[in-house]
Amino acid sequence: MILFVILAYSTKLIHGNQNISYNNLANLVSQLNLINKEKPEIKVLNSLVNEIINKYLNNCHINIIYDDLFDTDLYYKDVLQIMLKSFDSISYKVFHIYEYSSKNTIVSEPSCVNYIIFCQDPEITATKFGHTVDSRVFIVTIGSKWQIQEFFKSQASQNIMNLLIASAGSALQEKNKNEVADIKLYTHEMYIDGLGSSVQIILTTWKLNKFTRPEVNLYPVKLVNGFRGHRFILSAIEKPPLVFRSIDKILTQEQSTLWDGIEIRLLQLIAGILNFTLEIHDATLSKSRDEADDRIIRDLVTSKAELGISGLYMTNARYSMVDFSPVIMQDCGTFMSLGSFALSKNKKQLNITF
Ligand SMILES: *[C@@H]1O[C@H](CO)[C@@H](O)[C@H](O)[C@H]1NC(C)=O
Ligand SMILES: *[C@@H]1O[C@H](CO)[C@@H](O)[C@H](O)[C@H]1NC(C)=O
Repeated sequence: MILFVILAYSTKLIHGNQNISYNNLANLVSQLNLINKEKPEIKVLNSLVNEIINKYLNNCHINIIYDDLFDTDLYYKDVLQIMLKSFDSISYKVFHIYEYSSKNTIVSEPSCVNYIIFCQDPEITATKFGHTVDSRVFIVTIGSKWQIQEFFKSQASQNIMNLLIASAGSALQEKNKNEVADIKLYTHEMYIDGLGSSVQIILTTWKLNKFTRPEVNLYPVKLVNGFRGHRFILSAIEKPPLVFRSIDKILTQEQSTLWDGIEIRLLQLIAGILNFTLEIHDATLSKSRDEADDRIIRDLVTSKAELGISGLYMTNARYSMVDFSPVIMQDCGTFMSLGSFALSKNKKQLNITF
């Protein structure tokens, strides 16, 4: 009844004043539609999301990220708003994906952050998420079965270790039925072979507001079998005593250059435990006069290497581009200058990582 009255009024407005566009009217109508409609499918999704937050995500701050669909489409915007309203006991911040990816992450930010991402295609998570391997990522997507499968094969998904995907497409899209479709929950098994492949695995299903397999841990421990001999490309430059070349004349007759140093040995120890091997390359030279360390960062960013070492200092700019290992050495640098008092006493704490 209310709907009818406003509609009639709006139609009259359109005739009287060409300023009101038809689009606005359509938006208005569908908004009213939403308000008046029972939305069992949103309730189902909402209870799932809250269950996962309470069980797995509420130990840390949560960054909630949404894409264009959840920003512009009235129905999905409503879905997001209803979700947000139900999060009353958690610490969270909401970002549009573009806003998030252009955000500068800084070293001093809390390292304990979990993520909830609402999106059409999980591919958008190619943006770098999380700065510790402990971060948990929960993606709610309406993408098709194929999109989800493709995503699990992609590099983007392999960058996220603690990954959980809820396939909410059929629940949210087939709205005419009386019954809400089940929501399937997936993760991946990583490094199943030496090539570093991942496979998608189904964990459980959210059916009638319950998990079909409630005993399953939705964030299982990954990499229990290590990396199965995977060969990582390591970008390095000499910085003794952390990284340097040694000429080894004892093992072989010819002079072969071997890499050595604290960081190389540390990495070799880790490689032995986690079952991976290393292929060490000199950091790629560049035309621009970058600092040597930046050559390593660029090798990582451009995927020329998967690991980088050589006593890198952790700075805000670098921190937002790559993941750092825990700090292994601290250095109290003093900047000395002639003539200027501004810098002479400025001591800066520098963290070395590899
Ligand atoms: C049309 O709308 C604009 C702002 O949206 C307003 O400034 C303008 O006065 C309106 N024109 C008429 C004829 O109402
Ligand atoms: C490392 O992984 C390979 C491939 O799965 C396996 O054959 C090998 O036994 C593993 N080595 C150790 C020490 O676990």
